[in-house]
Amino acid sequence: MTGTAIEAAGCTVAIDEVGNMFARRPGRREGLAPLAMGSHLDTQPTGGKFDGVLGVLGALEAVRTLQESGYETNAPIEIINWTNEEGSRFAPPMLGSGVFAGAFPLDFADGRQDRDGTMFADALVHIGYRGAEKAGTHKLGAMIELHIEQGPILESEGATIGVVTGVQGMRWYEVTVYGEDAHTGATPMHLRKNALLGAARVIDAIDAIGHEFAPEGVATVGLIENRPNSRNVVPGEVFLTVDLRHRQDDGLERMEQRMRKALAAILDPLRLTYQQKQTWTSPAVRFAPELINCVRRAAQQAGFATRNMVSGAGHDAVYVARVAPTTMIFVPCLKGISHNEAESTSFEECAAGAQVLLNAILEYDRGLA
Ligand code: GLV
Ligand code: MN
Ligand code: MN
Repeated sequence: MTGTAIEAAGCTVAIDEVGNMFARRPGRREGLAPLAMGSHLDTQPTGGKFDGVLGVLGALEAVRTLQESGYETNAPIEIINWTNEEGSRFAPPMLGSGVFAGAFPLDFADGRQDRDGTMFADALVHIGYRGAEKAGTHKLGAMIELHIEQGPILESEGATIGVVTGVQGMRWYEVTVYGEDAHTGATPMHLRKNALLGAARVIDAIDAIGHEFAPEGVATVGLIENRPNSRNVVPGEVFLTVDLRHRQDDGLERMEQRMRKALAAILDPLRLTYQQKQTWTSPAVRFAPELINCVRRAAQQAGFATRNMVSGAGHDAVYVARVAPTTMIFVPCLKGISHNEAESTSFEECAAGAQVLLNAILEYDRGLA
């Protein structure tokens, strides 16, 4: 996000120590904290073109419009690209915005390792994005994140703009199941300690917990490593991850209790042992009412049908909300498909989102006059 596109939009770029990028267009009153628009550019192994990218390019489009029309805002305006939002390679998610907002110490972020043992800090240096600015030292006056919905509601209800009032609570866990490597031909069935069999039953139980708590709750095992993963070895060890989400924090707690019970009830009779640890938690979030109102009015003035919604996905806005008034704007995505290369949002819907983003930021900025 350096170079001509940003400079042509009248911005200068700063990069902080976790690689977060801030492109700033000056305002009339430089003493005011910047009003930010932004999201992330990282993705999933089979991610699409819109998750995150829309919020950064939508912000760029909004700032270009300000620049082309010579509009002077009161506060400086920032376009932000937050680092490692997905948490796909380096868990947990929302790592860059989390360090910025003080949710994670820098040391914690630096020490995150991918599944091959590469450290986050080394990967950041490798790509040349260990910036000079200390994370979180510059204040934000507000932030609005434009994003695709990643679910089917806007499309099915014919609404163009999701007015996002908050984000559901989330918890991530890592579970390792231990059995015993053994010969598949020579080991009688009743003597096996098959870690993969235990893991398979755990995966089924986690899915059942999701169904039990639906529609407020969802539960997923998304990553599994079977060891030694050989055709003629009874598997001796399985690593898997669990992702639990619920709109209410007490619901999330009950899901966790159910998971703990299920692990013991399934694995003990199979004579398997296990370790379970929570690796990340993010309580349910409510966004800032004054900014939510700016988004709703901006959408209504532009003639777009709106719908209030709570985000099922995590977003950088979750952590930024701890340090500045924050909200989000959703636009529909085809059939609700996301974290999938088939992700698709029309040009018209992208434009509607960018329009509402710009109008909402300008409305908030006028209130600073
Ligand atoms: C992160 O974007 C998540 O929702 O898992
Ligand atoms: Mn995203
Ligand atoms: Mn994502």
